[in-house]
Amino acid sequence: MLKGRHLIDSQDLTVRELKSIFDLTTEIINRPKDFSYICDGKILGTLFYEPSTRTKFSFEAAMLRLGGKILGFSEPGSSSVSKGENLPDTLRTVGTYADIIALRHPKEGAPRYGAMYSPVPIINAGDGGHQHPTQTLADIYTILQVKERLDNLTIGLCGDLKFGRTVHSLIKAMTRYDNVKLVLISPKELKVPENIKIEVLESKGIEYLEVEKLEDVIDILDVLYMTRVQKERFFNEADYIRLKDSYILDLKKLEPAKEDLAILHPLPRVNEIKMEVDDDKRAYYFQQVKNGMYVRMALIIKLLGVD
Ligand code: NCD
Repeated sequence: MLKGRHLIDSQDLTVRELKSIFDLTTEIINRPKDFSYICDGKILGTLFYEPSTRTKFSFEAAMLRLGGKILGFSEPGSSSVSKGENLPDTLRTVGTYADIIALRHPKEGAPRYGAMYSPVPIINAGDGGHQHPTQTLADIYTILQVKERLDNLTIGLCGDLKFGRTVHSLIKAMTRYDNVKLVLISPKELKVPENIKIEVLESKGIEYLEVEKLEDVIDILDVLYMTRVQKERFFNEADYIRLKDSYILDLKKLEPAKEDLAILHPLPRVNEIKMEVDDDKRAYYFQQVKNGMYVRMALIIKLLGVD
């Protein structure tokens, strides 16, 4: 049962629960009209303490398409947060107006902490460089849609694997499927943090490979997950400038890749993928954006228990 639960970490959902969300997502995609009023009378609060386009609009569009309503802020400066209100009090307050809350926060762990005080379900919409479990729902649903399986896959994650919360969430979630091999492609400075390698990959015996050059491994990948270098998490502008163009995917680099490679990106892209790639049949990142809304619709239904 998902009713009343929080979603803070991509491992909060079991493989079975994920499947139930994905099955509902497919039903919504096939019969959207049947779900147009299912959240009538319900309110989603979107509290975004960090910038967002996709995630915030995607949550809001999801609730509106379910017949619910939305309230919230995208600038904490325009709320009582600017007067010094703490997160528990903000959540206790918004939780009396809204039935469910999507929370994005620059501090890692803020949603877990906030959930202890919230009277309604909290969905982590991204906390610092830590986790982004609803992006992971969109990522995995897209992989399933394209590859028709979640096991026996070689998945390349490329770019900022140190600060990228979508990467951390996806790695954690994918370790539960059989025979998933991870190829971690990043500059030395942006490698997956040691604690994730030890606690998530090595402890479960997940096969992984770390490389610096995309060209060396592109031909073995079933999925290529590109990411942006996370400018806002750098302490030093010079380091960002030095690393930001480490990987630029273009049609030339794709030549040796498999015919049925699936290229994903959580977006926003800066320049990691040239626009010429958008028309390649292996580019699925805009489908992934659309799926993000549908999986959030399914998630909201499940957490509110209105299905
Ligand atoms: C991601 C995020 O916010 O972590 N964006 C998103 O939610 N789609 C990725 C990013 O900002 O690079």
